[in-house]
Amino acid sequence: MLDFSKVSDRRGWRSKKWSRFNEDVLPLPVADMDCAIAEPIEAALAARVAHGIFGYDHPPADAIDVFVQHCQRQYDWTVDPSWVVPVAGVVPAQFAATRAFSKGGKIAIPNPIYHSFPRAPDIGRAKAVPIPSVTEEGRETLDLTAFEACMQDPDNAGLSLLCNPHNPGGAVYRLDELNQIAAMAATHENVLVSDEIWADLILDDLTHYPMAKVSPEWGVSILAATKTWNIAGLALAFTVIPNAELRSKFEQALMGYPEPSYMAWIATTTAYSEGEVWRQALLSHLRDQRQLMQDAIDRLPGLSMTRLQGTYLAWVDCRSLNRAGLHADCVAAGLGPDDGAPYGKPGFLRFNLACSRELLLEALERFSQVVR
Ligand SMILES: Cc1ncc(COP(=O)(O)O)c(C=O)c1O
Repeated sequence: MLDFSKVSDRRGWRSKKWSRFNEDVLPLPVADMDCAIAEPIEAALAARVAHGIFGYDHPPADAIDVFVQHCQRQYDWTVDPSWVVPVAGVVPAQFAATRAFSKGGKIAIPNPIYHSFPRAPDIGRAKAVPIPSVTEEGRETLDLTAFEACMQDPDNAGLSLLCNPHNPGGAVYRLDELNQIAAMAATHENVLVSDEIWADLILDDLTHYPMAKVSPEWGVSILAATKTWNIAGLALAFTVIPNAELRSKFEQALMGYPEPSYMAWIATTTAYSEGEVWRQALLSHLRDQRQLMQDAIDRLPGLSMTRLQGTYLAWVDCRSLNRAGLHADCVAAGLGPDDGAPYGKPGFLRFNLACSRELLLEALERFSQVVR
């Protein structure tokens, strides 16, 4: 029986999440989860450790096929294995893509956004242009008019960066939105580099549409098992680029990057091939955690949470409190969410819900004391 509600204490294991704050602060930053990995992944890693030699290894022979089958099953997407370029991490793939496709100039980047995005343009001798989000019925999505304005700017660098499902807003982009973005990209000849690390953590009954499926000509989708199966320390991403010319530029830009480690290959291939039961149990736990969070926010006057369709990150709008020191006050009161400022939105807080029920309940109790 899988149980995600057990209290886990990761102190002493060099966890970035658990060492960010003092011991008495409940840690809710950094997007990894407090649960142990799926048993088949643990067994596969243990078997490899028992071999005892860690020289230069090939990836498992079926590694790309396993990923391709995952794309077929999960996204109804037929991926040709030759389109797939493995990279040791999603952020390195984002940066390599920016280096590969940038002509120098302006790059559209959603705002708010995961903090690696605004740094990526530097590597392509370019400048980030934040694209504001618009909130429709509590769902935070992109302002497509601003997005297109950046693409058609004569000083545009030739690519845009996207994140779907969106961290930190929690939106899963609809097919009509993605089709609109694809049409703009075709008109303005803009490569769409889409970070889809959260694609397998959709909480609502919604479908993930990879950008490279929606736009095989301009789309570059970066996918990974690392968030979903809690193996982020074993970095491996799959960059899917159907357009051969773009793929070749990307592969050039990757030269000199480290290859994914053999342990990463084992964890990821086992996750995709044997991790579905575990993923379903996890999604059920995360939906319960989302409900706890939503109920708590609904009880706090002036606060609101954007509609959390995907990811396990609750994005809470606290601007009406008008408290510049809110994040510091939270930490002083014993709870440590992420401050919204590094995501481009001061006045917001981001809560990582991938913890035990007990920890979240206690954190929300402390939060209500801070904001009441
Ligand atoms: C949107 C997004 N991209 C990338 C990453 C990190 O990816 P990696 O650890 O594979 O570089 C994260 C981690 O939270 C993320 O949320």
